Amino acid sequence: MSVVEKKSVRTIAVASGKGGVGKTNIAANLAIAFRRLNKEVLILDADLGLSNIDVILNIATQYNIKDLFSGEKKLKDLIVEGPEGIKILPSSSGIQELTALDEFQRLRLIEEFESYDEEVDYLLIDTSSGISSNVGFFCMAAQEIIIVTSAEPTAMTDAYALIKVLFTKYQENYFKVLVNNVKDEKEGTEVYKRLSKAAERFLSISLDYIGYVPRDNCVQKAVRQQRALMDIYPDSEAAKRIVQISKNLLNNGDNHVKGTLQFFLGGLLKTTC
Ligand SMILES: Nc1ncnc2c1ncn2[C@@H]1O[C@H](COP(=O)(O)OP(=O)(O)O)[C@@H](O)[C@H]1O
Ligand SMILES: [Mg+2]
Repeated sequence: MSVVEKKSVRTIAVASGKGGVGKTNIAANLAIAFRRLNKEVLILDADLGLSNIDVILNIATQYNIKDLFSGEKKLKDLIVEGPEGIKILPSSSGIQELTALDEFQRLRLIEEFESYDEEVDYLLIDTSSGISSNVGFFCMAAQEIIIVTSAEPTAMTDAYALIKVLFTKYQENYFKVLVNNVKDEKEGTEVYKRLSKAAERFLSISLDYIGYVPRDNCVQKAVRQQRALMDIYPDSEAAKRIVQISKNLLNNGDNHVKGTLQFFLGGLLKTTC
């Protein structure tokens, strides 16, 4: 496929202040939900935590980004296939090193992405917890940012702190909020309203609510079995809400600037210069 024919990709970073609020599970299951809507999805695992996407989905990874630089492997050798054909660039492939590449390595990587000819409609980035420059870097490069929070006060405080850093340091002023692990719809809406009020009052930015995912034992059961929730518990309440969120996102996606995967990665790599 030539460069001009390449399709545009929608890039979405999934971020939170606090760890353990459900980013990785949301990213993995949203990816499957998008697949069921006939979208090609690539997950970039930029999470440095222990519970990485390859672990929760029991996917074996073989190669590292270093294998790219040595010329021994191509990008497609690093990308592994997950359930239902989702593609994953695992963090164990050294993706976090993207923030510390030299000029030659960057060039090599851009070349790799330019020759990567698989179609990708959605690129989901599972970021690390916290407010490190690594998180800022991936959020800045993405077109959309989903902030995941739970109802815990610490999760909400950290979500606000992340929004504030992304706004003040990186001039990001558009955020989507997903409230995870709540009792019911009412609690989800309350959490969103509180976060949104704070962002409006102190930062003068308004947040978009994309929905809630209830607390559901099936999420933990799926994690323990190292299988995707959407895969083994498709009728669970959590899975149904994720499907709903994927549809909402699909229907509200046309007002953003689009670019190709190569465009996204070009931007990503340039920001490290
Ligand atoms: N909706 C939910 N219902 C019940 N448990 C959940 C839910 N979402 C997440 N969890 C629990 O939280 C844990 C951490 O989720 P994870 O996606 O790894 O968080 P993060 O990537 O933000 O660190 C999961 O292993 C699961 O046990
Ligand atoms: Mg995670």
